[in-house]
Amino acid sequence: MSLTVALSKGKLLPGAEALFRRAGVSFPEVEGRRLVAEADGLRYLFVKDMDVPTYVEYGVADCGVAGRDVLLETGADVLEPLDLGFGRCRLVVATPAGSGFAPDRTATARVASKYPRVTAAHFLGRGLAVEVVKLAGSVEIAPGLGLADCIVDVVETGRTLAENGLEAIETVAESSARLIVNRASFHARREEIRRLVEALRRASR
Ligand code: PRP
Repeated sequence: MSLTVALSKGKLLPGAEALFRRAGVSFPEVEGRRLVAEADGLRYLFVKDMDVPTYVEYGVADCGVAGRDVLLETGADVLEPLDLGFGRCRLVVATPAGSGFAPDRTATARVASKYPRVTAAHFLGRGLAVEVVKLAGSVEIAPGLGLADCIVDVVETGRTLAENGLEAIETVAESSARLIVNRASFHARREEIRRLVEALRRASR
């Protein structure tokens, strides 16, 4: 049976494809809306970034590529043998630029995020019980529209924050793409996984 790899259809896909090709790992032509594709003994699933760890944890995929941000949020029980070195970004707390808003000076701060678990844990760790509003995306518009006082979101170039009048005031976590592996597959398919990890390790240096 083919080794199954779960990949995100989102921002990490170009980096993952480039790395797999550089590593000499067969990769399918990603066409249209096809969500499952075969390539010389490997089967690829193209799913939502937040779902990659789920497919790997449940063993539907043997391995996958997921951002550390997503791994922190999902808390999936998977092995993480390799930092792939691309998809670098930061999870930050951001507030309206120049507002001087400080969550620790407000008893009832409302924070919008696609990362509700990471957000709650971050503020709880500082002794702050904020109200977390979960959004699916475009989080940067929430403060300007009065939905939240601040946000926790991913910053890569900083362009989205700047264009929406926000500034980062605190880093919650650093992130990059990680290779993740299902615990059972790691043992049952040891040799195939080891070859894949080694090829990707060499290519990601
Ligand atoms: C992500 C993130 C920010 C943006 C950051 O959004 O949530 O909005 O990228 O990138 P930048 O710092 O380079 O501007 P994504 O494009 O994944 O879409 P989303 O807003 O729908 O989550």
